[in-house]
Amino acid sequence: MKNISGFSKLTKQQKIQWLCDTYFPDDKDAFSNFKKYHNADETLQKLHDEFIENTVTNFYLPFAVAPNFVINGKTYTVPMAIEESSIVAAASRAAKYWETRGGFKAEVISTEKNGQVHLMFYGKKADLECFFEKIHSKMLTDAKHITSNMEKRGGGISTLRLVDKTSELANYYQLFASFETLDAMGANFINSCLEQFAETFRQEALKHPEIDGKYEIVMSILSNYVPECLVKVSTSSPVEDLAVAGLSGKEFAEKFVRAIAIANSEVRRATTHNKGIMNGMDAVILATGNDFRAVEAGVHAYAARSGKYQSLTKAHIKDDIFHFEIEVPLALGTVGGLTNLHPLVKTALQILEKPSASELMQIVATVGLAQNFAAVSSLITLGIQKGHMKMHLMNILNQLGASDRQKEQITEYFKDKTVTHSEVVRIFEQTK
Ligand code: MEV
Repeated sequence: MKNISGFSKLTKQQKIQWLCDTYFPDDKDAFSNFKKYHNADETLQKLHDEFIENTVTNFYLPFAVAPNFVINGKTYTVPMAIEESSIVAAASRAAKYWETRGGFKAEVISTEKNGQVHLMFYGKKADLECFFEKIHSKMLTDAKHITSNMEKRGGGISTLRLVDKTSELANYYQLFASFETLDAMGANFINSCLEQFAETFRQEALKHPEIDGKYEIVMSILSNYVPECLVKVSTSSPVEDLAVAGLSGKEFAEKFVRAIAIANSEVRRATTHNKGIMNGMDAVILATGNDFRAVEAGVHAYAARSGKYQSLTKAHIKDDIFHFEIEVPLALGTVGGLTNLHPLVKTALQILEKPSASELMQIVATVGLAQNFAAVSSLITLGIQKGHMKMHLMNILNQLGASDRQKEQITEYFKDKTVTHSEVVRIFEQTK
């Protein structure tokens, strides 16, 4: 019976038992498979259980580091949580490569976040504008209980304005607010402010017959599109220093620039190209306890800001110098949320020497740029499968249950050969 009511009320053991009975009736190891990922430290386990609802076990991701990232002259060892092989190796390789060429230059362009109260208004626009002017300062004052702490630290609500969206959708207006949330990602802060604006609007509308009964507040929510929370990272090198794998520096640089041009002109390539960038950025975002779904949504929207989905990175050659850069919107936090709760997030932030949110924006964007450099460099030279399958070899061997002796023997065998799944299985059988 797969339908169940009151599942959330069951104890964790009962939830696991229900899953075992329902989906693993013939598997005697099912219960212990859930249990073996539980942490022996009960306090730690409870902490993880309470992050979300209906927790039945933990889901591990490898936590790795990529050293030698030089950003604005400072060296970082960057923590990355990611399951895909090759990513950390590629990031580390690119970091080391650019370390010897002066590293990366990063600059935070802006740090503004935003949110909207979306509303429909069926009366006269002039009446709404007049009403908004009247209640503007009251909306801000009523939100003081939410904003005062943030204001003490120098942040808060930056602007609140009425936006006419009726040309896009009949009767649609927004209360559009922008925020400075300092080192916090600020999602709860922003949403609380927006809900308060909506509440003040409702209360004040009761006193205004030209508004009351003529509007509908649809929703109040932050936007994950944050083009005013922008970071730029660049790197450059004399073309002659870029010689690699049988290509002269000039050939490599020109091929690289063409690869970016393809990503700018073709959505199918742009999507994969940007996915490679997010491989690195997401891994750091996850390790530092930030919301990678929010960042993904915002970054991809930004990649399509011209009306066409394009590359997040740019490259060009000028006066025999190769220039490579990325510009991305990143709403990140280094205080609040998981950053105070998850022990490994604290560890990750400590490894980064407790960065501010702005510094973390620079680090994350740099890893994105480095990741893209590594991917495109492989693609235009040897292809990615050689390196990728080498890294994937260990995954295949683990799936096959290879012993340490077999792993050593088989890794040695594939040192100078192409790794394919079937070939690994064949050699594995021989070493049994
Ligand atoms: C694989 O996870 C990422 C790449 O496909 C990125 C790219 O094609 O640029 C290698």
